[in-house]
Amino acid sequence: MATLTYPSMRNAIVSLSLHVLALSFSVQGRPATFLQDFRITWSDYHIRQIDGGRAIQLVLDQSSGCGFASKNQYLFGRVSMKIKLIPGDSAGTVTAFYMNSDTDTIRDELDFEFLGNRTGQPYTVQTNIYAHGKGDREQRVNLWFDPAAEFHTYTILWNHRHVVFSVDDVPIRVYKNNEAKGIPYPKFQPMGVYSTLWEADDWATRGGLEKIDWSKAPFYAYYKDFDIEGCPRPGPETCASNPNNWWEGVAYQQLNPVEARRYRWVRMNHMIYDYCTDKSRYPVTPPECLAGI
Ligand SMILES: *[C@@H]1O[C@H](CO)[C@@H](O)[C@H](O)[C@H]1NC(C)=O
Repeated sequence: MATLTYPSMRNAIVSLSLHVLALSFSVQGRPATFLQDFRITWSDYHIRQIDGGRAIQLVLDQSSGCGFASKNQYLFGRVSMKIKLIPGDSAGTVTAFYMNSDTDTIRDELDFEFLGNRTGQPYTVQTNIYAHGKGDREQRVNLWFDPAAEFHTYTILWNHRHVVFSVDDVPIRVYKNNEAKGIPYPKFQPMGVYSTLWEADDWATRGGLEKIDWSKAPFYAYYKDFDIEGCPRPGPETCASNPNNWWEGVAYQQLNPVEARRYRWVRMNHMIYDYCTDKSRYPVTPPECLAGI
C-alpha cells in the first residue's frame, strides 16, 4: 500500500490563516451545539444528544432508522462533520451525509454514502452528484482505515469552480464546473445539509447479498464538530456571488499539488467503481468524464 504524507506545516498555516481571515467576515461560523443549526427530520427517539449537544448518536434498530437536516439551505460553501461509523458487523446499513436542493424534478444533490460491511471487510464510500435533475454518477472508494474505530472528517466543498469530497484531508472526488462545455453544474439552487442512518440491505453490501444481522442491533453512529460555512438561504441575496467568500479563494479553486497527489493515490489504490468506466451502463462515456478532472 502506498504511503500518504500529511500536509506540510506551511500548508497548514496558510490554510489556517486564510480561515481566520475568512471567519472575520464569515456568514456562518462553527456552531456550538447540534440544535443551533440542525433539526431532527426522522424518528427523534433514535437521535440522542451527547456531550451537552456537541455530539449526537444515531440509532438504527428493527423499528426504525433516523435522520437530521440543517435548518437553513446554503448556496455554495463548505460543510464538514466528524463521523464515527457503526463498528463490527455493519453489513446492510447505510449512513449518509449529503446536500440536497429538495426539489423533486430538477434536483441538485451531493452525496456521501457509507456502505456497511461484514466484520473485517472494508467500508465503502459511495459518492454521487446530481446536477439539474440528473444523477447516476456513482463512484466507490474503499476506505484505507477503519472508520468505526475513530472519528474522521468528511467534507463537501462547493464553489463556482468545483465540488470536492474529502475524507480527512484527502480528496476522493472532484466534479469540475464544465458549464463552458455544456455539462450541467449545480449553481442555481441552495441545498440543505442532511444525514440519515437506515437499512438498505437490498443493495448496499455486495450488491444486496449480505443482509443485516439484526441480532447485532441496535447499531450506532456518532457525529460531532458540525461545521457549515456558506451563504444561508434565507439570507442576503448577494452573498453567493461574492468573490470574497473564503471558499471561493485561490486556495480552493483547484487542488494544490499535495491534494492532487493524494487524489491520484486514492484513485489508483482505493477506487473500486467508477461510472465513467462502466461500459455496460454507459456504452458512450458521459461527457463530464472526458472533460478533465
Ligand atoms: C465489502 O467487502 C467485500 C469483500 O471484501 C468487498 O468486495 C466490498 O466492496 C465491500 N463493500 C461493500 C459495500 O460491499
